[in-house]
Amino acid sequence: MVKHTATSVVTIERFIIEQERMFPEATGELSGILYDMALAGKMIANKVRSAGLADILGATSATNVQGEVQQKLDIIANEIIVKAFDHGGRLCAMASEEEPDIIHIPEGFRAGKYVLLFDPLDGSSNIDVNVPVGTIFSVYRKITRGTRGEMEDMLQPGRRQVAAGYVIYGSSTMLVYTTGQGAHGFTLDPSIGEFLLSHPNIRIPDRARYLSVNDAYEQDWPEPTRALMRRYRGMDGVRAPLNVRYVGSLVADFHRNLLGGGIFCYPANTRSPRGKLRLLYEANPLAFIAEQAGGLASDGSGRVMDIQPTELHQRTPLYLGSRAEVETVQEFPLPPEFVERRVGTAGAA
Ligand code: AHG
Ligand code: MN
Ligand code: MN
Repeated sequence: MVKHTATSVVTIERFIIEQERMFPEATGELSGILYDMALAGKMIANKVRSAGLADILGATSATNVQGEVQQKLDIIANEIIVKAFDHGGRLCAMASEEEPDIIHIPEGFRAGKYVLLFDPLDGSSNIDVNVPVGTIFSVYRKITRGTRGEMEDMLQPGRRQVAAGYVIYGSSTMLVYTTGQGAHGFTLDPSIGEFLLSHPNIRIPDRARYLSVNDAYEQDWPEPTRALMRRYRGMDGVRAPLNVRYVGSLVADFHRNLLGGGIFCYPANTRSPRGKLRLLYEANPLAFIAEQAGGLASDGSGRVMDIQPTELHQRTPLYLGSRAEVETVQEFPLPPEFVERRVGTAGAA
């Protein structure tokens, strides 16, 4: 593979092609999915950027010039992704946080051998206050025999992901992805409309600086979780305290911790014993990126990517980020009612 320095200009397209060349048996389909996601990301970035103008431009009525009712941005992002992928011939089905059921490829279009799962707009409640939001995606190979994707294809443990990533719509738009060959970041140059390689081979710092958690739920956490948070905050005298940073957009919190070192926690609590975040659309793809960058993801009792999913919109508690911080979670075991059923062992395919 060609070595890239931070000063050479490498588009995401060229980078993907070079990665694909390392696998002579590759058909190019997975690369195609990554290009399409980069395109969808640019289209969503464009919508997000003008979101603050919606009230001004649409002040006269709730309908736009085509007579269509103005939609929420997460529904628009969902449609952008579905339309970018449903006719490409690379996917046999999709699933989205915004839709209750599997999204099938329309009749008449060729079906491919991959499935795509996504959170079209993560942190969307933050749009109104101009806080970064993101898109998260996850790709698996179809395992059923038919041409159309089925539920079984969607409900695979995260360790079987063949690609995953996110786009963050922040002060710049960035796309970070992995195909299991490290995690790589690209920054959108808006003047030429291209994602350029800016963060090759991201490594999450071993020494964490940040703790991201919403401690408004503290009263509902089980006692071991409260003790764990006291540890992170340096309150039990064992370690120096982490700095607390919580955006409330998972992608933004994760991205900061990935680059700066830190842990994101969304623990189980007595009101939500499975936490809030979605295993398939949020936890698994970011877990894959974290592990590829040398970090880890746990649900409080084991590796997130070893959980056997049983339903599309399943939730999971999440501890995600720098390895040593995530490993600390094991020192604070949870009562049995908070422990997720899982199959397989770490590393098994
Ligand atoms: P989404 O906008 O896709 O529904 O996700 C929101 C999520 C996630 O981005 C964030 O980390 C979390 O909700 C924040 O939840 P709390 O407000 O409960 O802390
Ligand atoms: Mn989300
Ligand atoms: Mn969402």
